[in-house]
Amino acid sequence: MSFSGKVVLVTGASSGIGREVAQDFAMHGAILAITGRNKNELNSTELKCRNNGAADVLQILADFTSQEEVERVVDKVVEKYKRLDILINNAGACKLGDLQTSTVEDFDMLFSVNVKSLFVLTQKAMPHLVASKGNVVNVSSIAGLQAFDRLLLYSMTKAAVDQFTKCVARECAPKGVRVNSLNPALVKTNISRSSGLDADELDAFYERTARAHPIGRLGTTKDISQAILFLASNDSSWTTGSIFLIDGGRSVISDPVLILV
Ligand SMILES: NC(=O)c1ccc[n+]([C@@H]2O[C@H](COP(=O)([O-])OP(=O)(O)OC[C@H]3O[C@@H](n4cnc5c(N)ncnc54)[C@H](OP(=O)(O)O)[C@@H]3O)[C@@H](O)[C@H]2O)c1
Repeated sequence: MSFSGKVVLVTGASSGIGREVAQDFAMHGAILAITGRNKNELNSTELKCRNNGAADVLQILADFTSQEEVERVVDKVVEKYKRLDILINNAGACKLGDLQTSTVEDFDMLFSVNVKSLFVLTQKAMPHLVASKGNVVNVSSIAGLQAFDRLLLYSMTKAAVDQFTKCVARECAPKGVRVNSLNPALVKTNISRSSGLDADELDAFYERTARAHPIGRLGTTKDISQAILFLASNDSSWTTGSIFLIDGGRSVISDPVLILV
């Protein structure tokens, strides 16, 4: 698998899955553009990418609750590299809540970051992806397909991402652009803590949840990254509009006692 000379934009590359993906594309010769809000963490990702052999790395600081900041991202990539081959829509936020506890502010924040930014970025990127016969991978979630306790709004955003994937895949396949969703179950990253889970409870939560996966462990950022690189590569050239579950078998479990949160 080679991404030599390919310009790859990875959103949310300042931590977790996005950082791992950026590092792995770097290892395969890609030219990278990486986004995030945390400058220090983006610096750290850039360093890791350069150490892995990235031909170049462009950092873009952007808060995806701001449409203006999202709109500038693709412009900056094309201004510097004059092309775009692969868009990894990975940036995402989670806020725990059910019908009783979720707020309209939570709704607006989650739909801005998880859905609206992805729509704007993909729309801006598409002419460049058509020119390069490129592709898009949207990082969705098993929560887009199944209901879990206290993930009401997050699940709604990921269901929207999956439907976006299918519609845009259908629209853009004749133009030579593939679009796929990658839907992980639980992976240890910052998102669990930032979603509102009590830090003291995290280890117990991870241990309990690992048992809900037939493979017997949580996913790693490397598990997810390898699947993303596959979907972005020519090895999956006949795959578009797919909702690609990578979940340690979590989706085949229907025992209501084994809840995610
Ligand atoms: N970890 C899991 O269990 C899991 C499971 C299924 C799907 N996912 C999905 O995987 C993707 C990556 O999440 P992760 O697990 O790697 O979590 P993470 O470590 O918390 O990373 C989230 C990334 O998104 C960025 N981000 C968050 N809010 C943002 C905002 N308002 N504006 C711009 N960027 C923002 C963060 O940037 P800053 O830190 O710089 O703000 C960070 O780079 C998300 O789409 C998530 O929904 C994760």
